[in-house]
Amino acid sequence: MPTKIRAAITGVHGWLPETKLTNLDLEKMVETSDEWIVSRTGIKERRILKTPNWATSDMAAEAVKGLLEKTGHKPGEIDLLIVATVTADMVFPDTANTVCDKIGAKNAFGFDINAACSGFLYALSTGAQFVQNETYKKVVVVGADMMSSIIDYTDRNTCVIFGDGAAAVLLEPRKDGTGIQDFILRGDGSGRELLHMKAGGSLKPASLETVMAREHYAWQDGKRVFVHAVKGMTGTCEEVMRRNHLTIDDVQWVVPHQANMRIITSVAEHMNCPMEKVMLNIDKYGNTTAATLPLCLWDYESKLKKGDNIILTAFGGGFTWGAVYLKWAY
Ligand code: COA
Repeated sequence: MPTKIRAAITGVHGWLPETKLTNLDLEKMVETSDEWIVSRTGIKERRILKTPNWATSDMAAEAVKGLLEKTGHKPGEIDLLIVATVTADMVFPDTANTVCDKIGAKNAFGFDINAACSGFLYALSTGAQFVQNETYKKVVVVGADMMSSIIDYTDRNTCVIFGDGAAAVLLEPRKDGTGIQDFILRGDGSGRELLHMKAGGSLKPASLETVMAREHYAWQDGKRVFVHAVKGMTGTCEEVMRRNHLTIDDVQWVVPHQANMRIITSVAEHMNCPMEKVMLNIDKYGNTTAATLPLCLWDYESKLKKGDNIILTAFGGGFTWGAVYLKWAY
């Protein structure tokens, strides 16, 4: 009987804005077509946050409130809350503390992790350390992004891809062998040239010129990011499986970052993974950056069984990438 304490996901909950931005809507905004978007990305629609004065923290707060209700916890029980995001409410302070304030998590401390589309993997692995080493018993990890706040809706290279959303998981200690088994996180800062927001940071503070030059939006060299994403996700999935003596037959689910359907199928092909084992919701939500992985877990929650071997993988700006291997706990 295993006795090692592991951090297990004991609940997941998501929140999405009601407003849908469909491919047909985008056809009216930029030179594109439903056919192009579906065949090149797999995306049919994405959600856009339109509620006045709402931001990333509000989507995150709704996801966490739902999570607490569902798992029967009070806000005061949370020890630590981590928000993975690239669209913090403000440059400072962090969004996590704002979320704690909005949900009344008075005993928690929080911080943000900015690892772009890999943010949830980084935050999950970080949060798990506090549980595994018995520092804390209730850690909430949120992936939340309001990508519509940094997307240029005149740039067809990016505006068709991204959407808004948030989802949260609760991490608790488990001694039954379930929970996070292993993870591999990687980074390569030289990739910043290919995927970034040019202005608004200390390198190039906001000015009239940066606004006029449309430099406060996400920018990418999509083709080159694509190649790195397939290589990075496949490599870390294979490595984490190899060192845990898993073949693809031992894995019940692969949860890939929902960046592009062609990236996902390519990763699955390299891993010899049948698509029935691959979680997908890119058609409905597009790329919600840090939220894609927990949103997938939330969408597929009813299909998961205790003990299922699950590999989560992502690639994003930084560059950042990695894979997490966990055994589902309920
Ligand atoms: N509608 C119609 N045409 C479009 C378009 C759109 N929305 N966006 C780009 N195009 C055009 C390009 O301008 C280009 O035209 P040109 O040949 O006249 O220059 C043509 O389509 C092909 O563009 P290309 O960039 O080669 O397309 P692609 O097949 O690589 O697909 C992405 C573009 C962005 C969908 C793809 O590269 C991708 O998903 N990359 C990964 C990006 C990503 O996931 N980033 C998030 C972080 S993980």
